Amino acid sequence: MSRPLIVGFGGTTRPGSSGERMVAAVLSAARALGAETRLFGGADLAALPHFAPENRQRTVEQREFVDAVRAANGLVIGSPGYHGGVSGLVKNAIDLLEDLRDDDRVYFDGLPVGLAVTAAGWQAGGVTLTALRGIVHAMRGWPTPLGIAVNTVAQKPFDAEGHLVDAGILEQVQVQAQQIMLLADL
Ligand SMILES: Cc1cc2nc3c(=O)[nH]c(=O)nc-3n(C[C@H](O)[C@H](O)[C@H](O)COP(=O)(O)O)c2cc1C
Repeated sequence: MSRPLIVGFGGTTRPGSSGERMVAAVLSAARALGAETRLFGGADLAALPHFAPENRQRTVEQREFVDAVRAANGLVIGSPGYHGGVSGLVKNAIDLLEDLRDDDRVYFDGLPVGLAVTAAGWQAGGVTLTALRGIVHAMRGWPTPLGIAVNTVAQKPFDAEGHLVDAGILEQVQVQAQQIMLLADL
């Protein structure tokens, strides 16, 4: 098999958002394990119009996003915990993936999906991670055993340049990338 393609998306509209950085970190660890990767960060997600099921027209950005996920051998999704759940920006991108419903490979069928949540507290991290797992299950994907919940206030995981510096979270990133690659390689 050629190099597996791992596509990641997530974060907020804030440049350098912690969610986008977490997705980028898992993609970077996957690259070190031999993957090709593609990242759709907060600005990319903000360019996606509000999903409307009755509207079959697609923008260039919508097509590019759906085609990338369609071609992926594995996924990484990062969401902030907003009011105890997945943010609207990230959920809007997931809703657009309804376009994969009639594919030969329906939705995320058979795909490993790494999940990372960033929140200002522990509680939103846990419930948002559980919500994301439920979404991935609904879309026939395989959430990796290790999901990552980061408390951005208590842990302060990034340095001033945006590098992930928390050793414990770095280890989780490595393990999640390994788990994604294990399934993506099958
Ligand atoms: C609209 C909104 C709702 C939020 N709700 C919660 C929440 O319910 N629980 C929590 O722990 N943090 C909450 N937060 C904080 C974010 O989860 C936190 O800042 C997270 O790290 C996202 O930051 P980022 O922009 O760096 O990705 C909220 C933030 C916003 C803007």
